[in-house]
Amino acid sequence: MSTACETQYAFHGAVEVNDQLDALETMLDPGTAECFRAQGIPAGARCWEVGAGGGSIARHLMALTGPGGRVVATDIDTSRTVAPGAEILRHDVRRDPAPPGGPFDVIHARWVLMHLPERRAVIRRLVDALAPGGRLIIEESAVTSDGLPVLTGSGPADADLFRRFTGAVVRILADVGADPQWGARDLHAAMVESSLQDVQSIHRAESWTGGGPGSRLHDIHTRQLREPLRSLGFTDGDLARVRRIAADPGFSAMWYPLVSTCGRKAARGGQH
Ligand SMILES: C[S@@+](CC[C@H](N)C(=O)[O-])C[C@H]1O[C@@H](n2cnc3c(N)ncnc32)[C@H](O)[C@@H]1O
Repeated sequence: MSTACETQYAFHGAVEVNDQLDALETMLDPGTAECFRAQGIPAGARCWEVGAGGGSIARHLMALTGPGGRVVATDIDTSRTVAPGAEILRHDVRRDPAPPGGPFDVIHARWVLMHLPERRAVIRRLVDALAPGGRLIIEESAVTSDGLPVLTGSGPADADLFRRFTGAVVRILADVGADPQWGARDLHAAMVESSLQDVQSIHRAESWTGGGPGSRLHDIHTRQLREPLRSLGFTDGDLARVRRIAADPGFSAMWYPLVSTCGRKAARGGQH
């Protein structure tokens, strides 16, 4: 893991990034698809997928917008972005000008802004890049610092270790400038303060059993964040035990709810 790269993003350079992106797409894509269905992404829309990661949402936007649409997928590291037909651009959303192809009817970012200390300024820049009447959809997690509750399958010692582990991951991300809790706490207000209209937030919470994509993500975090976890007192034995817990089919735990917050830029003339 590199925490001292150009951006403070905690997961750059980690060899497990491919697995991480795959697990989080499997875990989160159904919720994002539901959000897009509720929003009604129109055929022919010009879309910008920010921090596109593995590209699953850029591909989904391509399917929704059809041949008349346009999808620009940007990331600070596009080496893993697979989205045939989309324009894939290396781009730092904190400081680069909006990519060509705008103004956009839809801009979407998932699990990106929580990692960036400049998140409020980024929202204002994204609003500037929207067409009149365009929609900004930001998805984060409603993270709590006290760790995820275990539902089934482990004794009290394992449940306590798992809870301490998930709480420590939140602390580690916060130490490098992320604010994993902002999705539930500040995102909605930040969208309203950026003059977006009809701002709405939906939380979707799910449980995951051992071996499922949510549990795989915990396993991956034990490897990606091994060094900072060790600095917080976790031994390699503890981390191996977290991996065993997360692979146990009898285990289940809640994941933090996916927060989907959507707002619309005023139509030309300031109308809704
Ligand atoms: C947790 S991953 C989420 C990937 C994807 N949005 C998803 O939900 O499947 C965060 C993504 O944000 C990207 N990222 C981090 N800092 C960025 C920045 N300053 N500008 C653009 N993308 C950035 C990372 O490279 C990574 O692909």
